[in-house]
Amino acid sequence: MRLRRVVVQFSTACMAVSLLAGSAIAAEGAAESKDPVKRGAYLVNFGGCNDCHTPKLITSKGPVPDASRLLSGHWAATPTPPLPPSDVIGRQPNQWAAITNSDFTAWAGPWGISYAANLTPDAATGLGGWNADQFVKTIRSGRHLGTGRRLLPPMPSSDIAFLNDPDLKAIFAYLKSIKPIQNQVPAPMPPAK
Ligand code: HEC
Repeated sequence: MRLRRVVVQFSTACMAVSLLAGSAIAAEGAAESKDPVKRGAYLVNFGGCNDCHTPKLITSKGPVPDASRLLSGHWAATPTPPLPPSDVIGRQPNQWAAITNSDFTAWAGPWGISYAANLTPDAATGLGGWNADQFVKTIRSGRHLGTGRRLLPPMPSSDIAFLNDPDLKAIFAYLKSIKPIQNQVPAPMPPAK
C-alpha cells in the first residue's frame, strides 16, 4: 500500500511537470470533443502517460518529453544505469521504495526492473497489433492484453481504469493516430536475489 502511495504521489508530481512542459506536444484536444482522437489526446496529455512512456530531453528546466520519440517507451538503446544494492530499493522500512532513470522510463523496486511500454502503433514493437477491446481489457484487468501477466509498478492501471469505456477507447484511438516508432522495449527484470 505504501509503495502505491509513493507511486501515486510521484505520478501526480510528474503530471505537474509535464503540464508545465507540455506545450511542445499539447494537442488541441477539447474536453468535450466528439472526435475520439482529440478527446484521447486530451486525456493522454492530462493523464501523465508521457511522464513514463516518452523519453526525455534534459533541459535547463529539467527533463521534458522528447516530442520526436512521443510515447515510444523505454528507449532500447539507452543502457539501464547500474543499480544500487537491492536492499536500498524497497526491501527495508524507511528506505527508498523505487528509483528511476533520467528518462523516467525504467523503474527499479521490489518487483525488479520495469520498462515503460511502446504505446505507438508500430506493428512489431508497439500497439499496432492491438484492438480497442484488448486495450480496454488491459487497463481494466491490469494484465497484458487482459489475460497475460500482471502489469508491474509504476503503471497506474487502476487509476486509469476509472475512465469509462468511451474515454479508454478515445485514448486508444489517439494512440493509433500518432507516429509509429520502432523501439523494442526490454522485458522486465526479476528482482535481484
Ligand atoms: C508512473 C509511470 C507510468 C505512467 C504515468 C503510465 N504508465 Fe503505462 N506503463 C508503465 C510501465 C513501467 C509499464 C510496463 C509495465 C510492465 O512491464 O509490466 C507500462 C505499461 C503500459 C501498458 C501495457 C502494455 C503491454 O504490453 O501490456 C499500457 C497499455 C500502458 N502502460 C498505457 C498507459 C497509458 C495510456 C497511460 C496514461 C493514461 C500510462 N500508461 C501511464 C508506466 C507508466
